[in-house]
Amino acid sequence: MGTIRLRDACEEDLPLIHLIEEEVYPVPWTPNFFRIIYHMNEDLFIVAVEDERIIGYTVGEIEIMGRKDAPRKAGHVLNIAVRSEYQGRGVGTMLLDEVEMRFMRKGSNIAYLEVRESNENAQKIYSHRGYLYVRTAENYYGDEDGYIMSKKLDN
Ligand SMILES: CC(C)(COP(=O)(O)OP(=O)(O)OC[C@H]1O[C@@H](n2cnc3c(N)ncnc32)[C@H](O)[C@@H]1OP(=O)(O)O)[C@@H](O)C(=O)NCCC(=O)NCCS
Repeated sequence: MGTIRLRDACEEDLPLIHLIEEEVYPVPWTPNFFRIIYHMNEDLFIVAVEDERIIGYTVGEIEIMGRKDAPRKAGHVLNIAVRSEYQGRGVGTMLLDEVEMRFMRKGSNIAYLEVRESNENAQKIYSHRGYLYVRTAENYYGDEDGYIMSKKLDN
């Protein structure tokens, strides 16, 4: 395995990112949805590359929560994926660490995400990285419930 580094995603990366999405998800995001999410969250869209080849990605967004007079920012991990042959080598952790750091820099002290009820592998990885189960979102994926998991970030 060569050196793996992280960099900001650019629009030209989206077709390759979509190929990984199709490889790892039963119901992948569409290319158009990726474009929309990219333009809304360019500075929170990160790719992992090995020898300039994209092997994983994550994208997050900052959401404003809480009372109007006391708003709080929450970092929402919208998507994270690593090419199958690269899974279990720490790439997902690198991506998660980086997006969490960016959430903190933007003033958020909490990160959260949704995960399929059946995706025990990802749930385990998130638990090991400090995410706690919050609640079940019924039928979140249309064909399955989703678990909401969240983590307090250290500012
Ligand atoms: C979930 C996902 C993003 C995690 O990425 P990943 O690169 O496989 O994750 P990591 O390698 O960082 O961590 C996985 C495990 O491998 C271990 N690991 C890390 N580096 C390792 C290495 N060099 N050698 C062997 N194992 C290693 C980690 O310790 C971790 O185990 P742990 O949770 O018991 O501590 C990835 O598996 C994936 O793309 N899955 C399909 C899409 C998906 O389900 N996405 C999440 C939707 S909510």
